Amino acid sequence: MSQRSLWGSKVGFLLAAIGSAVGLGNIWRFGYMAYENGGGAFLVPYVVALLLAGIPLMILEYTLGHREKAAPPLAFARIDRRWETIGWWMPTIAFFGINLFYAAVIGWCMNYFCFSVNQAWGADTGDFFMNTFLQVSDSPFELGGIRWPILAGTVLTWVISWAICFREVNHGIEKASMIFMPLLVVLTLVLIGWALRLEGAWPAIKEHYLTARWDKINPFTASGSKVWVEAFGQIFFTLSLGFGIMIAYASYLPKKTDIVGNALITSVLNCLYSFLTGFAVFGTIGFMAASKGVPFAEAITSGPGLAFVVYPEAINQLPTGQTIFGMLFFLVLIMAGLSSAISLVEAFCCSLIDKFDFDRKKTVTWVCVLGCLGSVVFTTRAGLWILDIVDHFVNNYGLVTGGIFECLLVGWVLKAAIARKHVDQAGGVKLNKGWEILVKFVTPAILILVIGFALYSEFS
Ligand code: PFF
Ligand code: NA
Repeated sequence: MSQRSLWGSKVGFLLAAIGSAVGLGNIWRFGYMAYENGGGAFLVPYVVALLLAGIPLMILEYTLGHREKAAPPLAFARIDRRWETIGWWMPTIAFFGINLFYAAVIGWCMNYFCFSVNQAWGADTGDFFMNTFLQVSDSPFELGGIRWPILAGTVLTWVISWAICFREVNHGIEKASMIFMPLLVVLTLVLIGWALRLEGAWPAIKEHYLTARWDKINPFTASGSKVWVEAFGQIFFTLSLGFGIMIAYASYLPKKTDIVGNALITSVLNCLYSFLTGFAVFGTIGFMAASKGVPFAEAITSGPGLAFVVYPEAINQLPTGQTIFGMLFFLVLIMAGLSSAISLVEAFCCSLIDKFDFDRKKTVTWVCVLGCLGSVVFTTRAGLWILDIVDHFVNNYGLVTGGIFECLLVGWVLKAAIARKHVDQAGGVKLNKGWEILVKFVTPAILILVIGFALYSEFS
């Protein structure tokens, strides 16, 4: 077997891991969640979820990858052979359940990057997005043909992912992250600074983003408990946990590694990025609402609608710099998306390579060809329908199931105490005994509750 390659530097690893965590969700999901779920008060369930599930699991995934020096299937099998299937489940679901549509959505962003040049979306941005751009069909069963511009963007995304993952991590993903991430931060800061100076930005930020509405997060009410469950779900998605990505990334860490320190940095910086980007989102929408004279509640939305309908609408209202602002925004989405997409490709390829001792170049090539073909379904006119369905199941059940299994494996099969000892021996910040309790009892219990709640709301 060939020598396993390692990250060239600690910063390189961190930027790659943060690149995976910081994705489309940070930009188009976090702000809206906060808005709906108590504004500033949402930070309480969010930070609690970060502390009780996010950080402990990030430490757990890093520990698993570092200790077993392998992606999930082989890492799990090394602890107990019977767990290998579950090790396959995680990266496979991540690849087929997220990566395929993620690539198509990055393809949308590439199109909109070009549309920004002359605001090709016109005055009615909602109609343009649904009927001119996506040409959404009437039902998920009516594929209705491929939208060629979307296919072009999607293929380009796969080609870029392929070109980056083709090389060993320290040359491919690490180099790419060293370029993408600093650039992403700078561009995001420009976007925030710009948004803050728009007319009507601050009042909207203060009122809708920061003002705490405490009654909304009371866990003893039906709607308040939902807020807590959603906070845990969002923490999982935002930190790329439960799919073995961080296990794969940590498998390339050198022997002496500050596992806890790295986990803290990755998790905290990702959440900080979400929080700061919220200022750009709320500032921009606040400006748009004010200049069109519509209520804020009517202007804001989450997900694709935010990026492809509301933002273009806001750009239409800008007094100057429409083209630059648009290109900047979609470039930020493209870079945040790409750095997450490559982590999904890597986790899946790394799983195959570790288990079967395949050649990296061949594996990455085949996986990207397969992925690209699979993505085609999301470039059809039914794409948005299928995306919603897949996203719903992966988000509500896939990630969290992965998290529960990881806790059981490390907490009970391997034994949390042994994992903790490994962390101590690797060096850096030491783990407290409390982590064992979290991983064995608290985190899995909360995650089971999250799934139970999701099932319950499915049928009620
Ligand atoms: N963490 C990314 C985001 O917040 O957008 C998305 C993501 C990537 C989620 C990879 C899950 C995952 F496995
Ligand atoms: Na994220």
